[in-house]
Amino acid sequence: MRHWIIKLYKKANDKGFALGAFNFSTNEILKGIVDAAVKLKAPIIIETSEGERNFFGLEESVAVYHAIKKKYPHVILHADHTKSFEEIKRIIAAGYPSVHFDGSKLSFRHNIRETKRAAEYAHAHDVFIEGELGGIVGGSTMHKKSLKDVLTKDIMTDPEQAKEFVELTGIDSLAISIGNAHGIWKDKPKLDFERLKAIAKATGKFLVLHGGSGISASDFRKAISLGINKININTEMRVAYAHALLKGLHNREDYVPYHYLKDVSAAVSKVVEEKIIIFKAENKI
Ligand code: 13P
Repeated sequence: MRHWIIKLYKKANDKGFALGAFNFSTNEILKGIVDAAVKLKAPIIIETSEGERNFFGLEESVAVYHAIKKKYPHVILHADHTKSFEEIKRIIAAGYPSVHFDGSKLSFRHNIRETKRAAEYAHAHDVFIEGELGGIVGGSTMHKKSLKDVLTKDIMTDPEQAKEFVELTGIDSLAISIGNAHGIWKDKPKLDFERLKAIAKATGKFLVLHGGSGISASDFRKAISLGINKININTEMRVAYAHALLKGLHNREDYVPYHYLKDVSAAVSKVVEEKIIIFKAENKI
């Protein structure tokens, strides 16, 4: 499976598009994501954070992934932000073909050691692995603060450290910090494109941009042209989901879930379709 995933990232890299990676924690969100991918003929990554997969069910997420893959094979199931080696083992045993080891809270040397251990384990099990260097602040929700008050230069990925990090850990892709943060903030994120350019040049690795919600279409396009291969989106779908659900439940006379939940999935789909088009991933299967 790992080599098939590497081939897909390489295709994205060579053809100048990015793989959209969309988080899910409910069936309606998952349906919205997959419907959009099928409609636009886009390869897609569906992903769960630790909280999301605990809520959805670890084994359940793998079972549903296999069911989807039978009808639409251009899907990768990915474990987002996994913070311990034990959790990496648990996810791989359950059947995730792609994982993210997030050691960004550890010291540089400790992050190298733990990521290398996770990478060796993942590769021995034919699993693709993303590492992370630099901090990506915030959770996938609406924030009351301004990004400029929480983002500091010292959490941004250093290109020279990134070079050493990818060489010593053997990871397949790297999540970086260049002014991106999870969630939607009072101000728009300002991406440091010079830093991105330097990281791409120093590492030659597939690069991942977390915190996609709130980033403008032109910034996405520029980031892709400078070496971003995968972009994570969560908050914008969560907000669309909640608004559509509230609207669907307001003054309701029938209590049939699939009557109002289909609008919830459609609202998620709309967000995903917009992103797939911005990422130039349509018609790439
Ligand atoms: P957003 O919630 O900002 O879209 O970020 C999602 C993400 O990066 C998941 O890892």
